[in-house]
Amino acid sequence: MTEEIVVVPGDGIGREVVPAAREVLEAVGPDFEFTEAEAGDAVKEETGEALPDETRELAANADATLFGAAGDTAADVIIPLRRAVESFANVRPARAYPGVDAPNPETDLVFVRENTEGVYAGHESEIAPGVTTLTRVVTEDASEEIARYAFEYAENRGGDVTIAHKANVMRTTDGLFLDTAESVADEFDVAYDDALMDALAMHLVQRPDEYDVVLCPNLAGDVLSDLAAGLVGGLGLLPSANVGDERALFEPVHGTAPDIAGEGVANPSAAMLSAAMLLEYLGHDDAGERVRTAVTETLASGPTTPDLGGDATTRDVTDAVLSKL
Ligand code: NAI
Ligand code: MG
Repeated sequence: MTEEIVVVPGDGIGREVVPAAREVLEAVGPDFEFTEAEAGDAVKEETGEALPDETRELAANADATLFGAAGDTAADVIIPLRRAVESFANVRPARAYPGVDAPNPETDLVFVRENTEGVYAGHESEIAPGVTTLTRVVTEDASEEIARYAFEYAENRGGDVTIAHKANVMRTTDGLFLDTAESVADEFDVAYDDALMDALAMHLVQRPDEYDVVLCPNLAGDVLSDLAAGLVGGLGLLPSANVGDERALFEPVHGTAPDIAGEGVANPSAAMLSAAMLLEYLGHDDAGERVRTAVTETLASGPTTPDLGGDATTRDVTDAVLSKL
């Protein structure tokens, strides 16, 4: 059965790394039908809309979407796109790869970030000149859904769960998140503990190898997973998945990298690893594993792009990965 994949390169290096990831998907061969769509700053300049209805509709109906990055319009694109695929979980693996300089080569973390509420779903207002507020939304339903996803994920990979929170201060909202996650934990035979997110940030820097799946509220997951990017060699290596029940959206964690965009030297690894997650989401586990292995071997043997200390282009790295497939 043909699966429909929507490809949204977006702006900046999205237009360089997403085509590279598409080549990799084509090389491993499931029966995919690709549709290209626009989103981001460039299409907004042309049409006034950062996320054209057509792109949203395509993502809402496809089996999976591969997105690059958007520039200034990132929030106007990515939040509605995540909503279009009804994703509740943002999954961000961060692992150290052989051959890539990382303070702790044993780092192999997966952040499971709540993707629908917290402060990013809150309503901001200016209640008086110079006085602003933000409402934070945490529900039992969303907390339960994300906790169950994290514990299932840990169970499948034979790992454990750390629940990140700040329930000592945000007693009501993070209190609900923590209590709900602990009730879900009771249903699983998976080891877990909880950690205050500020102390956890320090511990992740000092001994990342002691953690496995980190279950996070929305904002904490955003920040801690970028911190983890710094532990494993930079944003050029971090893939992510926005997972829903019926469809999902895959994207590198990085943005448009305006400092290198257009030079053809962006690291395509994060986009390719996102493509590997897409394959696995659709049940093509072998193809996903082949892509991950080819990217891992290329990181170890080179060529590598300048962010990893090499002098290769995106094309060189893509060719090396394709030759390993
Ligand atoms: P960024 O991720 O674009 O860049 C941060 C640094 O990492 C830069 O030095 C960049 O060159 C480097 N970098 C990132 N990805 C790389 C790759 N694949 N290969 C080599 N080097 C790479 O984050 P920044 O600078 O904070 O944001 C730039 C723009 O991207 C902004 O307009 C922001 O709004 C947007 N953005 C969009 C996101 C999205 O669409 N999901 C996510 C993050 C930022
Ligand atoms: Mg972020």
